[in-house]
Amino acid sequence: MTTRRLVLTRSAAVIGAASTGLLLPEIVRAQSDKVRVGFMLPYTGTFAQLGVAIENGFRMALNEQGGKLGGREVEFFKVDDESNPAKGIENATRLVQRDKVDVLVGTVHSGVQMGIHKVARDSGVLSLIPNAGVHVATRAQCAPNVFRTSFTNSQPTLALGKAMMERGHKKAVWITWNYAAGDEAFEGFEKSYTEAGGTIIKKLGLPFPNVEFQALLTEIASLNPDAVACFFAGGGAAKFLRDFAAAGLNKNIQLYGSGFLTEGVLDAAGDAANGVLTTMHYSDSLDTPRNKKFRLDYAKTFKLQPDVYAVQGYDTGLLLVKGANAVKGDLNNKPALYAAMNGAEIDSPRGKWKMSAAHNPIQDMYLRKVENKENKVIGIAQKAVADPATGCRMG
Ligand code: PHB
Repeated sequence: MTTRRLVLTRSAAVIGAASTGLLLPEIVRAQSDKVRVGFMLPYTGTFAQLGVAIENGFRMALNEQGGKLGGREVEFFKVDDESNPAKGIENATRLVQRDKVDVLVGTVHSGVQMGIHKVARDSGVLSLIPNAGVHVATRAQCAPNVFRTSFTNSQPTLALGKAMMERGHKKAVWITWNYAAGDEAFEGFEKSYTEAGGTIIKKLGLPFPNVEFQALLTEIASLNPDAVACFFAGGGAAKFLRDFAAAGLNKNIQLYGSGFLTEGVLDAAGDAANGVLTTMHYSDSLDTPRNKKFRLDYAKTFKLQPDVYAVQGYDTGLLLVKGANAVKGDLNNKPALYAAMNGAEIDSPRGKWKMSAAHNPIQDMYLRKVENKENKVIGIAQKAVADPATGCRMG
């Protein structure tokens, strides 16, 4: 159904209700109903753990409010998006039209996000992006009803190049999955590394979510760079770390990545991850009361260690709580809802961050090193990294 038809159908229903005297009970019902939250996340496949961590983090933020949003109870709807872009529009449409959610929370994969984004822009439903970094969502196609609490794909790698050059790694090979997230992570890496004076000797890739790395690792060995930089995440990242070490490459070649490489995979990767350097807007070892409390509460509640995805899910919940409290649960009051979320400052376990005019976080990027199954902070690689928001006309 097109947006226009949807609008016409809804207004026809309202007129019908008014003429039969049913309008008042209808409004009262709408106000006292539960807030309908739709999770569209991967619960299977290489990003399955990421989806679970995001949902857990989101629920934790709401639990801190007695499970309510602006005083209203909450009802959850869930769709496994399988990280499958071909089903993105259909899955998001199901949540909006069949389940009539007030807010869509999703997703992880940039390609699937484009499906959600189309549905969000067409329907006007509030869309909160807890991970997927696809640039256009907060650049040329930014929208008043779309807020991202995570990053743009080039934000972490914009902080990577200088750190690599400071360690004397002047010649690098880049490797990733060939899809939006990998391509855009490369954009940030290319800019920061070449501006710092580094040379990219080869760009390698394989289709998402393929994990047959062997031939590419053999090629890397023959190229003999100072360093390898990459974007991988989830189950595929764990496999890449293990294969890189098993091929003996970690002995002579320093491995770098955007921090997703070592998020939520350190048990699965074991010793293979030791010494890997990454840039990211969070680190397990951030020594702040805020982070320590979050980690303890999360571990107690879910019997799992939190990672960056859990933090992003949590921050998505915090943002929605802020908005919902400002409108006392009336999520239909969109101008006031968006005004409260626009420019919001979020007191996150990652450190305080501010929502940009294009609705993407302005945040510090930490340099981290894996030691004993933990991402240890070495320092701040870059402060207050903002996405350029090219083409966004908001704000
Ligand atoms: C993405 O597809 O945008 C994506 C997926 C996993 C990550 C980061 C970005 O960890």
